[in-house]
Amino acid sequence: MAAGLGTRLKSTKPKVLHKAGGRTLIEQVVQTCSALVEAENILVVVGHGAEEVKRALEGRSVRFVDQPEQRGTADAVRVAREQVGEQDCLLLVLYGDCPLIEAGTLAALVEHHRRSSAALTMLTTRLENPTGYGRILRDAGGAVLAIIEEKAADPDQLSIREINGGVYCFDSRPLWEYINKIRPDNPAGEYYLTDIVALFRSAGLKVEGLLHPEPRELLGINNRIELAEADRLLRERINRRLMLAGVTIEKPETVIIDPQVHIGRDTVVGPFTQILGNTTIGEECSIGACSIIQDSRLGNRVTVGPFTIVGSSILEDDVQAGPYARLRLENHLEAGARVGNFVEMKKARLGAGSKALHLAYLGDAVIGSGANIGAGTITCNYDGIRKHQTTIGDGAFIGSNSTLVAPVAIGPGSYVAAGSVITKPVPEDALGIGRSRQENKPGWAKRRRWRSEQHSEAK
Ligand code: UD1
Ligand code: CA
Repeated sequence: MAAGLGTRLKSTKPKVLHKAGGRTLIEQVVQTCSALVEAENILVVVGHGAEEVKRALEGRSVRFVDQPEQRGTADAVRVAREQVGEQDCLLLVLYGDCPLIEAGTLAALVEHHRRSSAALTMLTTRLENPTGYGRILRDAGGAVLAIIEEKAADPDQLSIREINGGVYCFDSRPLWEYINKIRPDNPAGEYYLTDIVALFRSAGLKVEGLLHPEPRELLGINNRIELAEADRLLRERINRRLMLAGVTIEKPETVIIDPQVHIGRDTVVGPFTQILGNTTIGEECSIGACSIIQDSRLGNRVTVGPFTIVGSSILEDDVQAGPYARLRLENHLEAGARVGNFVEMKKARLGAGSKALHLAYLGDAVIGSGANIGAGTITCNYDGIRKHQTTIGDGAFIGSNSTLVAPVAIGPGSYVAAGSVITKPVPEDALGIGRSRQENKPGWAKRRRWRSEQHSEAK
């Protein structure tokens, strides 16, 4: 169910499109369900922001059901009936705002349902503070009688700690038979799916409440505090999985790693780093504190210094980048290349073993292997209208504070004198100098000092 707006989130975006653990809530739930059933058998009920929700699930072949008016969770299930069809089957019903549920728990629920011959088996848990959740009413023998929603509960019922986790396994036949009997006779005027429990019981059908020992897995997201908590728990899961697979994560509670990220063994991830999107990091790498790496591929033994930003770039084996480097986008650093502090790169290729160790801008540039890019080198890639390419050959040496006005080519093995403005190609093995010649005036400073002394004595 993903049709609600999520009023308590105070957002213009539908609730299930908020993110926790690097995915939208709805993607998280769909991803978990995909472990049990074919995507074509996952029905997503949409309403608020239907188009956006569909877009968020693009590429997964789930089916969508429109709920034109959000009249409550029973209504949301009812609208899916046609798509489910008439055949007898088991239906798992979940809320799109409960992203922490794990596939193993769903499998155990289905398993329990199959063994128990109940018409409905649902997950419950006990909470220190059950505020907001539906409470589970049981009889003296422990059999589930009903679920009472918070808004409809009396003070005695409010003190019940066992709550409805919102994960149900239904036999389809009794579900369709009784769902139309649910009435919106509650203070909210909504069709509550949870009312089906009492209906089943009065028809003599068995309802099982499976008490789940891990309450955190059933956390429902209704406000941004719970959203932050879900994010924290999902990130913790990712980090634990990686640590158990041989990755060292320092101060893991500060590290944000997205679910699709791969990291090889013996790589060390420093505190406050973010490793995002489709990033792959090899073995024995070191990712310095406070770095951000997104949609990038790092080979083995790559060192990323602290405070380094890497976006959609490739860093081959033994590359060193940072501290304080910004590899903005679409860069390719070949094996053993080194980039130091305050170097920005954009759409640039740095050949094997080449170095740009201090204060440079390399944009739209192809640099060969074994080249040295001096401190303060700038590729002037933009003329105000278009971007232009700079090429620097193998083994070239670019002196400090050089300005390379693109399009321009610096030949292999050539030198560019420090402080040059290079507007013409520098041939192979040549020295390019583009600055005015220095002139020294002997004794000039001494004469100046003498003149200013004369001047002050005269005063
Ligand atoms: C619901 C349960 C409550 C349970 C809790 C667990 C009901 C009546 N109550 O309460 O017993 O303890 O979840 O988290 O079911 N939705 C639709 N269409 C609608 C209404 C809701 O698709 O017409 C979707 C929402 O987008 C949301 C989910 O259903 O993802 C749950 O709705 P919500 O209003 O958050 O229910 P709760 O009050 O949390
Ligand atoms: Ca909820």
